[in-house]
Amino acid sequence: MIPPGFIQDLLARVDIVDVVGRYVQLKRAGQNYVGLCPFHGEKTPSFTVSPSKQFFHCFGCGAHGSAIGFLMDQRGLSYVDAIRELARQVGLSVPETAPTDVAAAGRARALTEVLERAAEFYKRQLRNAPAAIDYLKGRGLTGATAARFALGFAPDAWQSLREVFPAYEDPRLVEAGLVIVGEEGRRYDRFRGRVMFPIRNRRGQVIGFGARVLGGGEPKYLNSPETPLFRKGYELYGLFEAQEAIRRRRRAIVCEGYLDVIQLSQAGFEEAVAALGTAVTSHHVAQLFRLTDHVIFAFDGDAAGRKAARRALEAALPVVADEKRASFVLLPEGEDPDSLVRAHGAAAFEDELARALPLSRFFLRTFAEGRDLALAEDRVAMRAEAKPLLATMSAGALRDQLVRELAAATGAAPGEIEAAGLQPWRRLPPRRGADARAPAPIDDLKSRVLQRLLAFPVLAREFNAQIAAEFLDGTEPVDRQIAEIWRAATVGATPSSGALLEALADSEFNDAFRALAARGLTLDDDLDAARADLAGAFVKLELRRTQAELRALVQRPPTSETLERIRELTERQARLKDGAVAPDSA
Ligand code: UTP
Ligand code: MN
Repeated sequence: MIPPGFIQDLLARVDIVDVVGRYVQLKRAGQNYVGLCPFHGEKTPSFTVSPSKQFFHCFGCGAHGSAIGFLMDQRGLSYVDAIRELARQVGLSVPETAPTDVAAAGRARALTEVLERAAEFYKRQLRNAPAAIDYLKGRGLTGATAARFALGFAPDAWQSLREVFPAYEDPRLVEAGLVIVGEEGRRYDRFRGRVMFPIRNRRGQVIGFGARVLGGGEPKYLNSPETPLFRKGYELYGLFEAQEAIRRRRRAIVCEGYLDVIQLSQAGFEEAVAALGTAVTSHHVAQLFRLTDHVIFAFDGDAAGRKAARRALEAALPVVADEKRASFVLLPEGEDPDSLVRAHGAAAFEDELARALPLSRFFLRTFAEGRDLALAEDRVAMRAEAKPLLATMSAGALRDQLVRELAAATGAAPGEIEAAGLQPWRRLPPRRGADARAPAPIDDLKSRVLQRLLAFPVLAREFNAQIAAEFLDGTEPVDRQIAEIWRAATVGATPSSGALLEALADSEFNDAFRALAARGLTLDDDLDAARADLAGAFVKLELRRTQAELRALVQRPPTSETLERIRELTERQARLKDGAVAPDSA
């Protein structure tokens, strides 16, 4: 592992403008630089790089990230290789102080070697495993298909990897997720008696495995654990094999399973990929949109598949650009792409693709599902559920259309949906100017805080006390998001936005953070205005808290204590309302 501290130091020394500038001709535009996006064809520049935030974002295709992310996408480098390359550019050496005294970078390379060697071994084993060959044949796969995906077989024995790793005690085998250390230090192979699906990165290097039991048995699939090389939220199964076809056929098909990808490929849909046993992330979708304008989600026709489709919708919204298309195939109950192609052939699947719902349709259908839109209550509920997702969109024209359609479906005027803070991160006029507006609902207040902290991590420390008072015990996702940002921004030297996002890469909120940061990129970079805005938000938040406590207190029997507290709070409330105090946090 590369120590996170090193990555932060590295990002503090690198200037993303230099890094990007080697590949893209950049022109100054206000506080940012713009250029033609290297990830999709365009004639007018929508690719924006912020030197103060150390972050890039393409408003055309949705690509965004730090200098590390840029190198990964531009050069097809792995995370570790991108870090190594950046370190080289600024003359830093990647630290060699890891516990096992092997250089961190060297270890990543060593992990790849270990995984490659294991993949070769599993592939050889498949030739001598009639049961596994029969299983794959039984699922309709040809030898050529098995070769294309480098399928293998892990023998049903405790230490068969010993054959290719005589130094079976090597800690790298454990680190790579191939060997498990059991009780009393006994070591054994993680994968036994399973068909092996090597997972490769964009450059074709093996970074992990999926492994299926032959026939019945639990768990059906075992997957490699996450390692520095293998981050599930970033990698797509089959992308290495599919990338050329995705470009050529101008579409990508995202499905759920290993076998779906393989079966589709064999049936001529070589542009198929799958998320790796986790939900589809915005990063996955953005990666595909860099290769093509059309991403089609084809999930199983069961409850889990519908849920996965909804998660995919949520992941797609922040990264779909106006000139891009996402659509959703709803397979018949009980079918997955694999079973459909096998039972009814490629033409039947092509028919399903032709019937796919465009994102706008699927959006409305998802939120209308299970509701009776003849009922006012259901229309209100639908609007309330759908609206926050519209706020995550970066595609302006498409969002406007969706706003209109949601309004029509729920019997509202589009203005009603726009009005209540659909874009809470829009640059707010400094302090007092904003007061003509109706008070914003509480979530908008919190998302303003979130947005400001992401854009100006330096404010996290300045507002330490207020953040602690308002958010550290909160339970809503937005509270936890703010708490996470606060921790990451105050742990060491203050990071840039881009470095902060890198530090938060493993957060469950990673996608939301990145999307928010990306959209904030063209806002004016005025630290003072942001500071004033935050101060205002904290006053309102404290006022809310004070009022809530007051409301609770007046319900109680009037003991001298409660009366005293009421007096205190009333006074505090008055002063907060006057703007006579800075928000407090004691
Ligand atoms: P499915 O249960 O839909 O399996 O899981 P499948 O792909 O149709 O598999 P077959 O056709 O029965 O062989 C979809 C995906 O979810 C992950 C795997 O990535 C799988 O391909 N998964 C599923 C797991 O990681 N573990 C499991 O136990 C099951
Ligand atoms: Mn299946």
